[in-house]
Amino acid sequence: MKKSVFKINTKGHLDKDLFFDEGVDVARYDIVKYSQLQKLYEKMLSFYWTPDEIDVTKDKIDFGKLTKNEQHIFTSNLKRQILLDSVQGRSPDLALLPLASNPELELLIETWAFFETIHSRSYTHVIRNVYPNPSKVFDEITSIPAISECGNAISEHYDNLINYRGPHGSYKHKTLLYLCLVSIYILEGIRFYVSFACSWAFAELKQMEGNAKIIKLIARDENLHLAASLNIIRTLLKEDEDYVKIKEETDGQVHQLFEDALVQEEDWCDYLFGNGSMIGLNADLLKEYVRWIGAKRIKSLNYHVPFSVHQHNPLPWTEKWISGGAVQVAPQETEITSYVLGGVTHDVNKKSFEGLSL
Ligand SMILES: [Fe+2]
Ligand SMILES: [Fe+2]
Repeated sequence: MKKSVFKINTKGHLDKDLFFDEGVDVARYDIVKYSQLQKLYEKMLSFYWTPDEIDVTKDKIDFGKLTKNEQHIFTSNLKRQILLDSVQGRSPDLALLPLASNPELELLIETWAFFETIHSRSYTHVIRNVYPNPSKVFDEITSIPAISECGNAISEHYDNLINYRGPHGSYKHKTLLYLCLVSIYILEGIRFYVSFACSWAFAELKQMEGNAKIIKLIARDENLHLAASLNIIRTLLKEDEDYVKIKEETDGQVHQLFEDALVQEEDWCDYLFGNGSMIGLNADLLKEYVRWIGAKRIKSLNYHVPFSVHQHNPLPWTEKWISGGAVQVAPQETEITSYVLGGVTHDVNKKSFEGLSL
């Protein structure tokens, strides 16, 4: 089939599936089929921010006072965050957008990717302000095996989807899309959260607080991305029997995807704290958090959790950073959640989807 960026549809915009149907012709949002996607888009947009709003000049002084070992933890974590957002800033547009066949989904994907580019810009903002030689930090990223391996892992299912050459919308194509969406869900819901915990550990010690504020804004966005990926997966399962079958057939593969990501995150904890720990955080504690957040996400996607975890968050202080959404609130005041605009909470649970029809 010849591809085109504009082809007048034979079906109405309310009759088309999320993916693999006729492409979108008119970008219209007057009446939408998937109001939950429209709401997520509106929420994303209402959270618009720019990195320059955040003053990170004190972070430069703080960084100079950190021990070598703490500097390694901070910089390595930042480098890995840069890699995660580098991939996630371009991949939804490259892999998902060409397959989307609904106007509000198309808008959501483009906005989602745009916000990831804000995250990428914010890392440059931090690095320019904190390090005497910013380019050195960037130049080193891809030569760290633990980071490049992570890059390969998060790209694998995007690449499988992009490189598929079989019939458009076939069962195989749907399977690749499903696995890609699960992989995105793992990136947005597990990998980023592990890195956030590490960023906030410094601010808990009143260090690197500018960076922590930026990460708080990034976390607010990632939480919506997590909700978006979960929502899309659930919608596919609800609307198309093929995906129910695909979910059953790929059960082992999906469990392996989760396990591989969790092991990779645990190995990363060893790399971060390889030269020693910092007050309030060490490799074992962060690994407990990896499993705890992993179990939470596996459960939300309605899969069986094959390992046991703490009943409570092993890093309870991360919650105030995730739940308080406002930039202007000082770190010591972040338990004030009344600043949060609208009804979408800042971590995914059943309540996250109240008002969104799933
Ligand atoms: Fe991001
Ligand atoms: Fe994201």
